[in-house]
Amino acid sequence: MTEQNIIDTAKAQAVPVLPNAQTVTSVTHYTDFLFSFRVTRPQSLRFRSGEFVMIGLMGDNGKPLLRAYSIASPNWDEELEFYSIKVQDGPLTSKLQNIKVGDQVIVRPKPVGTLVLDALLPAKRVYFIATGTGIAPFASLMRDPDLYERFDEVIMCHTCREVAELKYGSDLVASLADDPLIGEFVGDKLKYYPTTTREDSPHTGRITELLQNGTVAADLGLPLLNPETDRVMICGSMGLNTDIKEICETAGLNEGSNSMPAEFVLEKAFVG
Ligand code: A2P
Repeated sequence: MTEQNIIDTAKAQAVPVLPNAQTVTSVTHYTDFLFSFRVTRPQSLRFRSGEFVMIGLMGDNGKPLLRAYSIASPNWDEELEFYSIKVQDGPLTSKLQNIKVGDQVIVRPKPVGTLVLDALLPAKRVYFIATGTGIAPFASLMRDPDLYERFDEVIMCHTCREVAELKYGSDLVASLADDPLIGEFVGDKLKYYPTTTREDSPHTGRITELLQNGTVAADLGLPLLNPETDRVMICGSMGLNTDIKEICETAGLNEGSNSMPAEFVLEKAFVG
């Protein structure tokens, strides 16, 4: 071995090999506090739309810093997409918000979660109710042909403080009708109902109030929640989840799970 070979071998051994590393393929920033990114997909990763995985970066201490993130891309996509907040002093998102194309992100290929179509009994209509980054699992589900095979109507309700925070979801919904892969499945089945609470927009107010006072039903020409015809999937803050769960239970809907499908399911939106 030459001296150069020895140096090269030593250097190669010193480079830490990231377990489960995937390569960033695109990054989109929406606001000072929100961004999405796409990474290569581990070959072994199979998931159901709506599930989440642990992702992260190598910490300064050499240990992986991982958080739960819903997969925002559909299960047929050859890449994985994630939608994240940026927290300036957040251990992970303070660093994750700076990733660039070509960087590496750790993705643990063990998907889990309750926001899956298998946890719901068949029905005519499904409501997706999200606040903030809670739209991520629905970004996956809205691109899954299976959703439109199971339901005649899909109502995507998304509440954010300001209009700019709706852009990830509104761009996605707008792209679906003409999407060459799933446009024909979506047809006119998907109805989008964005609301803002701290800035005026066509629908101002919390989704909880707008559901309870009948505004959503009136605006969309739909009947009130009914366990015979309606299913609900919820992903938001703890407060939102608790409040919508109560609205569902008052309307006679029961909480479902993977092992016992029923009328509604919920999951906390994960924060960095
Ligand atoms: P609000 O502005 O009235 O608090 P956050 O940014 O705090 O995570 O909230 C995201 C969005 O979710 C905001 O528009 C917020 O409204 C709304 N929100 C928070 N908690 C609830 C709740 N319990 N029910 C309905 N909407 C909620």
